Amino acid sequence: MITQFTSPIHISLRFKSFLYLCTFFLLISCEKNTLESNPYPIDNLYRIPVVVHVIHQGEKIGEGYNLSEERIIDQIKTLNEDFRRKVGTRGFNNHPNGADTRIEFVLAKSTPNGTPTNGIVRIDSSTINNPIPINQRYDHFAYYSYWDYKHYLNIWIDPLPETFIDVILGFATGPNSDLPGNHLFALGEPIQAEGIIINSFHFGKSAIQSNYNLGRTLTHEVGHYLGLLHLWGSYDCATNDYCEDTPPVSNHNSGCPTNIPLACNGEPAFIANYMDYTADDCMNMFTKDQVKRMHYVLENTSARKSLIHSPGLKEP
Ligand code: ARG
Ligand code: ZN
Ligand code: CA
Repeated sequence: MITQFTSPIHISLRFKSFLYLCTFFLLISCEKNTLESNPYPIDNLYRIPVVVHVIHQGEKIGEGYNLSEERIIDQIKTLNEDFRRKVGTRGFNNHPNGADTRIEFVLAKSTPNGTPTNGIVRIDSSTINNPIPINQRYDHFAYYSYWDYKHYLNIWIDPLPETFIDVILGFATGPNSDLPGNHLFALGEPIQAEGIIINSFHFGKSAIQSNYNLGRTLTHEVGHYLGLLHLWGSYDCATNDYCEDTPPVSNHNSGCPTNIPLACNGEPAFIANYMDYTADDCMNMFTKDQVKRMHYVLENTSARKSLIHSPGLKEP
């Protein structure tokens, strides 16, 4: 979920988005491959260390909100299948616009203090009096546990009641970049803590009866975290996601429509794109332009470009 943008001045907005678009292509065209400077390159992949903060209510490991290590590892595996468009998995597609992001996620191997870790922190929230109101959601969760946002992708598992299944899926802070559409993000540091919050029931493969039970909420939120907007942007055909190769749409889709809805330009909409609101088992695509946006963010923006050089990627 990202913040919505509304403006009464449509003409100037349209002109502004035209300018933004121009800047965007300018930026994309001077994009430089900075992979050589990555001290930990494996086959020219970007690797991002992840810390999962399990905010539970005193249950034993593997029960209730205190999700098992197996479920967490499997969620990261799903995330990688989706980001790498892995053959033989749900994350594969053979769409001409589809792309392997060449970004992978690893549970952190060392803590900010340089001690060994499995990348999972378990917090019994029933023993903690959290003074930060839940509506300041990122700071609220960071109060329990938060690792250096410059070197780790912080993911909090939110112990919401069952009534929030399908109501609240997840949230992400966006990168603070000079890309068009930046104003649509909930920005992280120094405004608020950086990271991603996922409803416990939607984290990983889940036994719930839901369109969102295969762990794709995290794929969608990591898309935001790395600079992707919803396909419909701010809900009009003119200013959408600033990616040329996703057909412009003015609204989201849900479920898994068998009659593919049409985009503003008459082409079939990309209901299989991770940045739509369709069901988990309906999605399997990031596009080439979405990948360019994420690479630009990873190479250039504060609180993102340091992730790929993080000491957390290596054992201490
Ligand atoms: N509504 C949430 C957001 O905008 C998440 C949507 C996730 N979609 C999914 N198929 N799991 O960030
Ligand atoms: Zn979203
Ligand atoms: Ca588009």
